[in-house]
Order: sequence, then C-alpha cells, then structure tokens
Amino acid sequence: MRILVTGGAGFIGSHLVRRLIQSGRHSVVNLDALKYSGNLENLADLAGHPQYAFVQADICDQKAVHATLQTHRIEGIINCAAETHVDRSILDPGAFARTDVVGTGILLEEARQAGVQRFLQVSTDEVYGSVEQGSSTEGDRLEPRSPYSASKAGGDLLVLSYWTTYRFPVVVTRGSNTYGPNQYPEKFIPLFATNAIDGEPLPLYGDGRQCRDWLSVYDHAAGIQHVFEQGEPGTVYNVGGGNERENITVAEQIVATLGKSRSLIRFVEDRPGHDRRYSIDCRRLRALGWSPQVSFEEGLKQTVEWYRTHERWWRTIKSGEFKDYYQQQYAKRLQQGTACGL
Ligand code: TYD
Repeated sequence: MRILVTGGAGFIGSHLVRRLIQSGRHSVVNLDALKYSGNLENLADLAGHPQYAFVQADICDQKAVHATLQTHRIEGIINCAAETHVDRSILDPGAFARTDVVGTGILLEEARQAGVQRFLQVSTDEVYGSVEQGSSTEGDRLEPRSPYSASKAGGDLLVLSYWTTYRFPVVVTRGSNTYGPNQYPEKFIPLFATNAIDGEPLPLYGDGRQCRDWLSVYDHAAGIQHVFEQGEPGTVYNVGGGNERENITVAEQIVATLGKSRSLIRFVEDRPGHDRRYSIDCRRLRALGWSPQVSFEEGLKQTVEWYRTHERWWRTIKSGEFKDYYQQQYAKRLQQGTACGL
C-alpha cells in the first residue's frame, strides 16, 4: 500500500516508517512539520530509498494535506503526528488542542474525501485516565486528566465517529509508555539516562511510586503495523508491553546500568494532576496475533546503551530549544528537591 505516515520524523513515527518499508509490503510518504521533536536524522538511513518520500507540512495545513494525498495517490494513513508531552501540555495546552484534535480532524476529513482505504489513529493508554486497580479494556470509559490526554481522547473519538457516521474504515491503537532509541530527551527514560551520563540530578516527581507499563518502540511499531494490516474497521486495540514498573525502580535500573550513584535521584515537586497508574488489557490485539517480544530489562539496557553511544544526537537537542524548557520545568524543582537516600 502507499501509506502516508504523519509525524514520521518523530520517535515512534521514525521506527514505524523504517519497519513498514523493511517489511517490503509498503511505500511510505512521511509528512512531518519538523517541530521541536521532529528530526530527519532519525531517518537518515532511508534518504534516497525508492519506497520513501518526505514532505514537510503540518497536519493542520489542509491545503498541504490535500495536495500530498493527491500527488502521492495515498491509499492508507497512519497518524503519528501529535504533541505528546504531559508536562508541556500543562505549560501550553493550546498547542495540544490544535494538533491533536483540530489537526487530526483536518487529516481525517481530507482522507475521507480522497477515498483513502484505511486510517489508523495512534492514540495512547492515557485516555483511560489513572487506573488504581485492574486494567483498562478498549470499551472502558475515557477519563483523561491532563490537557495532553484530553486532546488525544478528542482526536481518538473524532476518528471513531467516522466509522459510525460514514463507515470510513478507521482503526485506533492505544499504546502504553514507549521507550527506545531516538526518543526526545524530555521523556522520563531518555531524560534520566542522559542526565545520569552527565552526572546531573534526576528529577523524580512526587514519591516516585507512579506506575507505567513500558513498551519497546520496536514492539509498538510492530503492533501499529499489525493493526493497520489486520485490524477490524471501527475497532480500538490496546498495545501494551506488560511491564508495569514504578518510576523509582526504572530510575534505579538506569543509574545501575550506567554504573552511577543512586544519589543522583532527587525527589522533586510533583506534576499537577499526575496520573498514578496506567494499565491496559491487551487480549484483543494478542488474539489478532501480536505479542511483545522485547523484555523490559534487556530493552532498557540497550536503550541506555544507545544514549551512551549516540551523544551527538542528544547533545545537539539538549543544547537548543530544550534548555529553556528544562529551565522552566525543573530549575525551581531541583533547587527544592531532596536527594534519594543511599
Ligand atoms: P513521561 O515520560 O512524561 O510519560 P507519561 O507522563 O506520559 O507517562 O513520564 C513517565 C513517568 O515518569 C510519569 O509518571 C512521570 C514521571 N517523570 C518523573 O518522575 N520525572 C520527570 O522528569 C519526567 C519527565 C517524568
């Protein structure tokens, strides 16, 4: 199929683009606005590949989306383009409603009018909200609690409405916390790995006992491709790694892998509205033939090793726009934080 992947220069998007092309079943047009976290270096190995093309555009730009669908005779769409970081959504919620709701709506409507045969929306387990006990199934009520997860829930519901209303063949994936190479260092694992490499403090929010289900980006990309190729139209699929860990445990594993001291960990002021736990039930996708292949312990080690051996990649990022964000998000927190006992 000729697939348009939006946000293909980002973390999950770039792994997905590479996977789709390497499968030998698809050609890919990558439409990416190259905002702060989009980085063409993530796909440098594909430059000039006959099954790959790049278009710089925003999914909110209706004319550019329209022209791309026509010019490349696009048959399927996977929407990875999104604002994704909860802390940034607290600082600037408007950007999230624009891209994750309005942008998704523009892309979806252009896709319907162009007669696209398949539309996959990459969503998140965060739309279920904080889950104190048990695990969320796809039919559960959505109770998003941050501007980020609420915006993703808006986009997710808009996409599903196109199946109900128009029988437009959409599918939705709700992935859990993803980790791996090329993740922008604002997120927990790459932030802690790169700070630890530099001997800088690791800002752990609250009591550090919040729980996330960690999913390797390789398993996540495989899950998205599987749902794109085999999912039932109008259906949602949870994609989780089955690795629920408390943040403090992950932070300790990161410092241990790097041979650094646990005293780098600082307990700092919590994120407002911080979701305590996410947990998803992935039986529906497993029944479709997908299962995660990467063990968390092995995947985390390899990810930390990737950051250790790709300093140029993340130092370029950390010395740019990121510096101001880091200052705003962490300077006061770190001044007031308390060190982790040895
Ligand atoms: P994050 O990577 O931002 O993903 P999400 O909030 O979407 O789950 O954070 C993962 C967990 O790590 C979350 O519970 C918040 C916590 N966290 C910290 O304790 N300190 C940090 O500096 C960051 C970025 C996250």
